[in-house]
Amino acid sequence: MKKLALVDPEAASLVEAELYRQNKNLELIASENFVSEAILEAQGSILTNKYAEGYPGNRYHGGCEQIDKIEDLAIKRACDLFGAEHANVQPHSGVNANLAAYMALLKPGETILGMLLQHGGHLSHGSKASITGNYYKGIFYGVSPDTEMIDYDEVEEIAKKHRPQLIVAGGSAYPRTIDFARFREIADLVGAFFLVDMAHIAGLIAAGIHPTPIPYADVVTSTTTKTMRGARGGFILSKKERAKAIDKAVFPGTQGGPILQNVLAKAVTFRLASTNTFREYQAQVKTNAAFLADRLQEKGLRLVAGGTDNHLMLVDLRPIGLTGKEGEEILESVGITVNKNLIPFDPNPPAVTSGIRIGTAAITSRGMKEREIEEISDIIFGSLTKDPSLKRDIFRKKVYDLCQEFPLYLDPFEFACI
Ligand SMILES: Cc1ncc(COP(=O)(O)O)c(C=O)c1O
Repeated sequence: MKKLALVDPEAASLVEAELYRQNKNLELIASENFVSEAILEAQGSILTNKYAEGYPGNRYHGGCEQIDKIEDLAIKRACDLFGAEHANVQPHSGVNANLAAYMALLKPGETILGMLLQHGGHLSHGSKASITGNYYKGIFYGVSPDTEMIDYDEVEEIAKKHRPQLIVAGGSAYPRTIDFARFREIADLVGAFFLVDMAHIAGLIAAGIHPTPIPYADVVTSTTTKTMRGARGGFILSKKERAKAIDKAVFPGTQGGPILQNVLAKAVTFRLASTNTFREYQAQVKTNAAFLADRLQEKGLRLVAGGTDNHLMLVDLRPIGLTGKEGEEILESVGITVNKNLIPFDPNPPAVTSGIRIGTAAITSRGMKEREIEEISDIIFGSLTKDPSLKRDIFRKKVYDLCQEFPLYLDPFEFACI
């Protein structure tokens, strides 16, 4: 940041302030993580200077010898890591990956059966608020009111009734394991394509901790962020037979030239994700989530679907008289960052919600384990009240001390991530 501080002190001071915030707060937003310094370097590299429309060996710009090698490296590493036949590493984000995948598989106006946003799905799975629900027809399945888990028989019923051209599994707030084989059966019953958006659980899948969708899905989309702990961006995996259509749908279908510094950072992300250290990290992410879920439930909090099988959980705050918005604000005041989140059958609107979503990927990257999770569960439970007599400063101090003990980006060897 030395050069930035010299050229633009105002911008540099904002970055410094954000680093301070990241360092002094506990990050429990389920979609966030801390990348290694190698990835920061890759994303800040001179590759930003280059244009390279097209694909390795077939570009619309000259001077792509090194760029081709970099993109090929990212593609090979993605395929090796997930056991996929084809990878496209150019999508700028998760939504871009989904858009391109839909374009490759569907005609405008065809039907996508995705998970309800309110039950844990994602906007880009056919919601009217997104281009995906306007350009295509979105219909939805939800979770069962009894178990708050996907009711596969209901998915089958809806699929048989509406005969969608595409079924999408995956979401941004679903705490339980997804049965990809069952989804494949349903897709086959109605002659639909099957797409898995593994953005949230990609790291767990890469580490073999969540079942892989690769044998079942026609197309798999993802971000390289969240549990993947990598570059900001997206990627698409598919069988060889879909490779041409997917590549055409990414460029020129929905994007221009790739963001090459991100493609490089994705290559590094995939390399790091193939290490034993990463597998150990993912195991700890899952252990931490299960441990936190158990502690919060022991204290009397209600968890949607009764707990978690992955890195995230949804806490229903209604039994303790709080909305999700209030919960988020209270936790923010003690230095814990979470997001308010709709829970299934939520009576509150999205700007208020009845729940908060909590994830353990980021705090596990800081090195926190069960001992720290125990303390974090005490802080969360202790501070989640509107009681004005509660001294929040005590909890703020505990958070501060924990963050001091597990510093971010201060000692590169401490936080090597490999
Ligand atoms: C399941 C899922 N898909 C797609 C996305 C979109 O990713 P991006 O914000 O990179 O476009 C998200 C982001 O949270 C997500 O959770």
